[in-house]
Amino acid sequence: MFAPSDGEEGAARGTGADTVSQETREAVRGNLMTETSPLLDHCPETLPAESYHDPEWFAREQRAIWRRSWVNVGRLNDLAPGTMRRHEIGGQNVILCRASDGRLGAFHNTCRHRGAELCPADEKPLGKLITCPYHNWAYDMSGRLVSTAFATPTADFDRQAHGLFPVHVRQWNGFVFLSVADEPPELCPDLGLSALDNWPMDTLRTGHRITRDLDCNWKIFWENYNECLHCPGIHPELCDMVPIYRQGVMAANEAPGWEAGTPQAPTLKEGARSWTMSGAPCGPEFAGLTAQEKANGYNFVTVYPTMFVVAHVDYVRSVTVTPLGPERTRLTAEWLFPDETLAQPGFDAAEVARFATLVLDQDGAACEMNQRGLKSGKYQSGRLMPQEFDILKFHNWVRAQMEPA
Ligand code: FES
Ligand SMILES: [Fe+2]
Repeated sequence: MFAPSDGEEGAARGTGADTVSQETREAVRGNLMTETSPLLDHCPETLPAESYHDPEWFAREQRAIWRRSWVNVGRLNDLAPGTMRRHEIGGQNVILCRASDGRLGAFHNTCRHRGAELCPADEKPLGKLITCPYHNWAYDMSGRLVSTAFATPTADFDRQAHGLFPVHVRQWNGFVFLSVADEPPELCPDLGLSALDNWPMDTLRTGHRITRDLDCNWKIFWENYNECLHCPGIHPELCDMVPIYRQGVMAANEAPGWEAGTPQAPTLKEGARSWTMSGAPCGPEFAGLTAQEKANGYNFVTVYPTMFVVAHVDYVRSVTVTPLGPERTRLTAEWLFPDETLAQPGFDAAEVARFATLVLDQDGAACEMNQRGLKSGKYQSGRLMPQEFDILKFHNWVRAQMEPA
């Protein structure tokens, strides 16, 4: 899976981390790669061109994919108790409420009286009840209608049948996910629910956030994420940090001539510990990581279609993908740190984020270039190369999701 969306150039400048680095590098060298090469033995066809710009196709994806998935809506600790927030999930207007006692509830953003928006702002304070701003009907945190305010219904009105329409909520590693599906699927990170258990995820705080609205279809972003053939041409700084990317691959067993049993090489360039401009960690390293997790330098976990997380030895970053239209996609990137790192005198989270932002913007420009080109009347579909096995998996996942639609 594509890693590059962060990175930093830079050699470590003589931090005490070099000793640790040596230990972890040796631990990794002890591991032999025994898996088989994931390279494809053929060059399959891509998704059709219209799937990237046709409004009807996009509407079907909203129904078949986005309304049937879990969607990340941000960090729990960025949502203050006593707050209501408005989100859009697969084109559906929903609210996420955090009561003053911390309880979470989520509902479709529509009142059962005459359908007004319950939360007409992106965020607003939440009292004890969820009160419609139009005629003041009020609902409790379980969605039950508890007051019709100035309106006095007749006996034929069944209050119990007029609660809010619920939306599913769940948490994972400090992120809050919503699903508007009747029966939501399992939350399925590609490396499993426990992939980030060695990081203190729940306690990390957002130190920096950027958003980018790209002129491309959301699938273009994921395709770019899933291959490194573009790395040598698009990401010179990233290729400096992660030497194997210079070959246009993400792992040794994808490289030409690789043989099973080859010792693993360290991932980051000599002396680098993390994806920061200098290569040095931006604060204390997480204590619970394995030697392999430390030596990796970056640990990617992907939750389709909504987000990926990159966990480093010192901080964690998430990127959330939100389709805004057939040819418009919002990226929200957040940098997460432990309190002790944020409390360091002079700590500058934006500086830590600088390299990843550079790489993300390089990817964004590539995605927009891809989108413009595939709208040529001549382009009907393309072909995947053997190294693009993760794109094939993504395409097959999209095809499977779309089938019932
Ligand atoms: S529409 Fe909500 S109270 Fe009337
Ligand atoms: Fe990239």
